[in-house]
Amino acid sequence: MTAQIADLPGSPDGPRHVALIMDGNGRWAQARGLPRAVGHREGVQALKRTVQAAPSLGIQCLTVFGFSTENWRRPAEEVSDLMGLVRSYVASDLNRLDREGVRVRVLGRRTGLPTDIAKIIERAEAQTAHNTQFMLQVAFNYGGRADIVDAAQRHVDRVLKGEATGPLDEDTLGLGLSTAGGPPVDLIVRTSGEQRLSNFLLWEAAYAEMVFQDVLWPDYGLAGLTDAVEQYRNRDRRFGGLATVQPALATG
Ligand code: IPE
Ligand code: IPE
Ligand code: MG
Repeated sequence: MTAQIADLPGSPDGPRHVALIMDGNGRWAQARGLPRAVGHREGVQALKRTVQAAPSLGIQCLTVFGFSTENWRRPAEEVSDLMGLVRSYVASDLNRLDREGVRVRVLGRRTGLPTDIAKIIERAEAQTAHNTQFMLQVAFNYGGRADIVDAAQRHVDRVLKGEATGPLDEDTLGLGLSTAGGPPVDLIVRTSGEQRLSNFLLWEAAYAEMVFQDVLWPDYGLAGLTDAVEQYRNRDRRFGGLATVQPALATG
């Protein structure tokens, strides 16, 4: 049985699940006259700090955007640097994350990834599948539109095999998304001053709160996350109704 992270207690004020668009690595490096690769390397340090900080704020699940389906448009050398960071991050941190009870899940398409990266992802997921202290989801080769298309295709395949019938509804489609089974996304944060989703969690963003911060991702950590959580706690979440609603009751 896989652990049900959604059942874990978080802070009563939330957010339980924070999704981060880790943006600004290139500009951080450029401002220092350094290659973009150095910005990405420092970005991994910021990720480590942020994962360490999250439980102290009552967060039980973090989803981070590591590589989008559109990031293949970058120069081959930069793409290769980013793949290399996955290799080194898993090599240096997977056992520690596992010991700390972190379940790692990777969202996005496996097709198109270098074979060794696909294997590393499988290993990270399998090794940590039973952990229940915290959930770290890494969106890698992920696009919100692609994820919705894949979920719809899964349903079509099941119908063709006689395993499901129509009509398709939101719950059924949601079960085919790569985020299925995790807690609902409460808060989406984007760093670096950009104010767009760039194809991140399009379905899951429906009633998430959004916080945009000017800090560049390599400078992120406890302070940035605390500020984002405080902004979230000052919001009223109404989910289309008139009264403030506890998210757990609104989204089931
Ligand atoms: C975010 O930083 C990391 C990835 C997209 C992989 P960027 O590389 O987008 O940095 P900027 O936006 O160019 O500063
Ligand atoms: C989004 O950032 C993707 C990640 C953070 C991994 P981008 O830097 O790729 O987004 P755009 O191109 O500015 O919209
Ligand atoms: Mg960017």
